[in-house]
Amino acid sequence: MKIVCIGGGPAGLYFGLLMKKLGAHHDITVVERNRPYDTFGWGVVFSDATMDNMRAWDTETADAIEASFAHWDDIELQFKGRTIRSGGHGFVGIGRKKLLNILQARCEALGVKLVFETEADSDADYPDADLVIASDGINSRIRSKYASVFKPDIVTRPNRFIWLGTRKVYEPFTFLFEKTEHGWFQAHIYQFDDSTSTFIVECPEHVWLAHGLDKADPEQSVAFCEKLFAANLQGEKLMTNARHLRGSAWINFQRVKCEQWSHFNGSSHVVLMGDAVHTAHFAIGSGTKLALEDAIELTRQFKQHGDRAEHIPEVLARYQQERAIDVIRLQNAAWNAMEWFEVCGERYCDQLEPEQFMYSMLTRSQRISHENLRLRDKAWLEGFERWFDAKCGVQVPAAIPPMFTPYSVRGVTLKNRVVVSPMAQYSAVDGLPGDYHLVHLGARAMGGAGMVVAEMTCPSADARITPGCPGLWNDAQRDGWRRIVDYVHRETDAKIAIQLGHAGAKGSTNAPWQASGADQPLASGNWPLIAPSAQPYLADGQVPRAMTRADMDRVRDDFVRSARLAAEAGFDWLELHCAHGYLLSAFISPLTNRRGDDYGGTLANRLRYPLEVFAALREAWPQHLPMSVRISAHDWVEGGITPTDAVAIAKAFKALGADMIDCSSGQVSAEQKPTYGRMYQTPFADRIRNEAGIATIAVGAISEADHVNSIISAGRADLCAIARPHLANPAWTLTEAAKIGYTGMAWPKQYVSGKSQMEAHFQRERAVQATKPQGST
Ligand SMILES: Cc1cc2nc3c(=O)[nH]c(=O)nc-3n(C[C@H](O)[C@H](O)[C@H](O)COP(=O)(O)OP(=O)(O)OC[C@H]3O[C@@H](n4cnc5c(N)ncnc54)[C@H](O)[C@@H]3O)c2cc1C
Ligand SMILES: Cc1cc2nc3c(=O)[nH]c(=O)nc-3n(C[C@H](O)[C@H](O)[C@H](O)COP(=O)(O)O)c2cc1C
Repeated sequence: MKIVCIGGGPAGLYFGLLMKKLGAHHDITVVERNRPYDTFGWGVVFSDATMDNMRAWDTETADAIEASFAHWDDIELQFKGRTIRSGGHGFVGIGRKKLLNILQARCEALGVKLVFETEADSDADYPDADLVIASDGINSRIRSKYASVFKPDIVTRPNRFIWLGTRKVYEPFTFLFEKTEHGWFQAHIYQFDDSTSTFIVECPEHVWLAHGLDKADPEQSVAFCEKLFAANLQGEKLMTNARHLRGSAWINFQRVKCEQWSHFNGSSHVVLMGDAVHTAHFAIGSGTKLALEDAIELTRQFKQHGDRAEHIPEVLARYQQERAIDVIRLQNAAWNAMEWFEVCGERYCDQLEPEQFMYSMLTRSQRISHENLRLRDKAWLEGFERWFDAKCGVQVPAAIPPMFTPYSVRGVTLKNRVVVSPMAQYSAVDGLPGDYHLVHLGARAMGGAGMVVAEMTCPSADARITPGCPGLWNDAQRDGWRRIVDYVHRETDAKIAIQLGHAGAKGSTNAPWQASGADQPLASGNWPLIAPSAQPYLADGQVPRAMTRADMDRVRDDFVRSARLAAEAGFDWLELHCAHGYLLSAFISPLTNRRGDDYGGTLANRLRYPLEVFAALREAWPQHLPMSVRISAHDWVEGGITPTDAVAIAKAFKALGADMIDCSSGQVSAEQKPTYGRMYQTPFADRIRNEAGIATIAVGAISEADHVNSIISAGRADLCAIARPHLANPAWTLTEAAKIGYTGMAWPKQYVSGKSQMEAHFQRERAVQATKPQGST
């Protein structure tokens, strides 16, 4: 085959040499506009795993790289006068120039033609090529030319950064954070040869502008950074090798992805590779890794399916199929890591102590969990756990995982951080909780969670979602609840909360297991609905009446009566349900509140009634007992509530004495398009906790102890609510403790003989796991 690579960066060069190795008969040319040594940029970094992959494909290149790279295991944070270091992170760094020279030399040795100082104007310049590799970097001309085919999606990010170098040698991968009068700056520093380190300085756009850096030339920018990091540099200079750039050398990261990676131009197949098709933020390692792995994958496909011209269409299709999955995974992780650095000045730097800040930073991509950190550096993690335990007032010889530390608020102490999330059971009769509820909630209270939240309970009969929803508007219901609360208090050391909520427009419906399904109006026996506006939840659903002020008074007073009855029943905690499109949530969201009076319009107006109800409850509910508010922190619909609104909502409830925000999302509009995934709502709990300064409960697809430990340790939430896993296993917390080898849980005395058996079972499983090879990223 005749192959032309446009662009002699890592992608083009490495693919050239791998293909030449696969078949010496291939005629391969790499066209590069620069001279061989004419490149800028400092060190590039990739993981040990990438090195292993490269070694499998070309030992000579891997050997040459290995002879020249700097390897480091440790990550060091210098923050607020403290230095914290953790190990086991396994990365290599190499100068970009050095890497290119190694690849160039290897290309030449194998017979790949290298054409320097030649600008390739177009793929059409090579009509006799069977395959054109568009490895022409982030500003790929070929990608732009066929934009309608490749459909690139390019996002420019808000932070500014500058690539610098220094002769100061940093042994660990180092992060520095410095506060200025206008905000925080951070530096990402890694060594890449015996005498040089890359030194990337980053800050938000507004901080950059406030310092006048938009007007600074490269020399002035370097001087600014030297002064900012003077305490660390100790007289060493920073260097720029972008002096030829006009204006500012500070750039914004651009995230590139493409829908289609290849195209037939009429005479040749053209395929994108490396930065031309995708970019990865430096917060997670360099795009070099992706570029090299692209080259490997395309070669692997030729090896597998044949390396003749007729194989090209199939090979290119499979190349995209295979690579797109890995790339999206890495881009997602890189996105989280990038966002962490974009918001850290606002959200974490001033809020978190250095120990927790380090933990948060290490887990920023959300790919590294608590147990991964234990594998990387057991001593560091145990030190962190001990620090965390001490913050929670725990003093025991062996460190306790954060999930199992107690949490106190007002007069209540939960024994650990796990909450059984409220789950409607639709099994009450006339609002009366009965035997079903006693067994359901009792079993879960015995299962190890710190607190069990009873399902949404309604302040009046017409506030129910279904006829099976429990209520709390009369003494019989209070006594029904008291029986359950007494059981929980007598037989377990868990706390029990009630969640009060009014269904609003989502009332008068079927239980989900009935033939017509959830949210569908009852076939008969419907009751009139009220809501902020006369708008049904489902387009063909029952239309509610817009509430009058008299309705508001009545509903507020119903809530207050329920709170009083809940206190009499002995509940430890009250949660006000302002989520999921029910009455109070419907007031908050602009999608469901179309009122033109003081209760509609601005967010402050839309919050007015829910806040009024909250304030009345706070007064009626005993002062020594906590109150949380569940909100939908994201409507997942254009024009609906956003996480930014959620911070303002949380602040408003906090000002009236809310102790916690339970951070759910969605179910406000049938048009919602949520993005589900592991711990998918935790970012809302994180943002609210650290921006509104109020404790939070994270909920949603939290399914393992490892998730809970990571969330609590990083300060993303204070408690974790677990719903569906508790339907399958009432003893979820006891099981998860045994799974991770934590034996400090007290089991119900009647169940104790099951404890050691379960612990032994999981210990054997862990021993088997430990014999299997571990991945290193
Ligand atoms: C100059 C530079 C410095 C960098 N420094 C670092 C760093 O220090 N650390 C880090 O982690 N990452 C760095 N990166 C980013 C990282 O190296 C990239 O993710 C990685 O290089 C991607 O490899 P690539 O081969 O796809 O693209 P690139 O490395 O961008 O290579 C593309 C090549 O194509 C050439 N080219 C473009 N258009 C044409 C044309 N029309 N005709 C001929 N040649 C053309 C360019 O000159 C360039 O050499 C840098 C990138 C660049 C371009
Ligand atoms: C059967 C069921 C009933 C639910 N009922 C309620 C409820 O009454 N009140 C509430 O706020 N959330 C309710 N939810 C939402 C859960 O509390 C929780 O937020 C959601 O299931 C996500 O957590 P998970 O991924 O751990 O299941 C319910 C969820 C389920 C599965």
